[in-house]
Amino acid sequence: MSILVTGGAGYIGSHTCAELLNKGFGVIVVDNLSNSSLTALDRVEEITGKSVKRYVCDVRDEDALTKVFQENSVDAVIHFAGLKAVGESCAKPLEYYDNNVGGTVKLLQCMQAAGCKKIVFSSSATVYGMNNASPLREDMPAGGTTNPYGTTKLFIERILSDLYASDKGWSVSILRYFNPIGAHKSGKIGENPRDIPNNLMPYIAQVAVGRREKLNIFGNDYDTRDGTGVRDYIHVADLADGHVKALDRVLGKMGLDVYNLGTGRGVSVLELHAAFEKASGVKIAYEIGPRRDGDIAECYADAGKAERELGFKAVRTIEEACGDTWRWQSQNPEGF
Ligand code: NAD
Ligand code: UFG
Repeated sequence: MSILVTGGAGYIGSHTCAELLNKGFGVIVVDNLSNSSLTALDRVEEITGKSVKRYVCDVRDEDALTKVFQENSVDAVIHFAGLKAVGESCAKPLEYYDNNVGGTVKLLQCMQAAGCKKIVFSSSATVYGMNNASPLREDMPAGGTTNPYGTTKLFIERILSDLYASDKGWSVSILRYFNPIGAHKSGKIGENPRDIPNNLMPYIAQVAVGRREKLNIFGNDYDTRDGTGVRDYIHVADLADGHVKALDRVLGKMGLDVYNLGTGRGVSVLELHAAFEKASGVKIAYEIGPRRDGDIAECYADAGKAERELGFKAVRTIEEACGDTWRWQSQNPEGF
């Protein structure tokens, strides 16, 4: 079976490619390298001892994408390609709508033309907006997103559902990730932010390795057990496993399904900070500052549906994720 992985050179994509190869799938990556490097795929080949076919191209490039489908017999697509920085999406909304929404429409058109109608899509817990209380369930109303990035995910979910309504021959799995963290246990691939990290874990890791002076904690006056924000951090290797399970489902049956990929457990900023210090043995300086605009007190999954229907359960601990991140960051202090 051959799987086309868009955005496969990126953080979650590269870990998923490794898992797919280990499970015996053939992997074809399409990536424009706007936020990644081919070194990640070299490392995936090193880890697995198997090769990845690569196309450096943009999913919005119809000719290039058509060629990919002509040259390969693609059984299904896992679609990671997209821009993901919340703040940047507020400054450059058109870029985000063009890349994420426009890119997905182009991909779906090329898939349709090639007769490949099976897709797993990277959505986000951000589609639950500000108005639902955790634990978040898939049947809660999506909407109320607070930034263009989140709205691109909401729109794409809607496009996929309209497409499926028009043609029941499609098989679609929408995965709403909570907060991916961690790295491959080999230390060879991991998260590699181009600029100052927006997210907590890569920021902590860069403080640990001496690239940043201290962590700024965005508020300790939330109504949570220690006052800091609570999130559902899921190990990227568990996430990769969830993709393979979702892929098995789209390969096996027609339909459209939405799944949370989370652990179902909330962890606070201070708890993650403490777990990282313990795993790395490095003291991480921090300072409490004001809340960040758009943040909510807590966000964690009801992970039951994915367990019932996909047989997926996140099994790795926060401590393991911190240890793996530290191995990656300390072995690759400047990233790839
Ligand atoms: P990433 O930036 O590491 O990976 C995305 C990859 O897509 C990169 O390799 C980038 O070069 C590529 N890409 C972007 N636009 C492209 C285009 N037009 N054509 C071809 N390639 C393109 O990000 P990630 O963390 O691995 O995220 C993967 C997906 O998961 C994204 O869609 C993201 O929105 C979604 N997601 C991520 C998180 C998170 O916290 N990391 C949370 C929820 C959802
Ligand atoms: N935080 C800090 N300091 C930092 C960074 C983050 O205190 O330097 C705090 C935040 O306030 C929050 C927690 O750490 O309480 C997690 O913040 P992240 O930025 O790591 O993650 P978010 O939950 O804000 O957002 C992430 C992704 C979004 C996605 C969302 C829901 O970045 O793309 O999860 O899935 F939409």
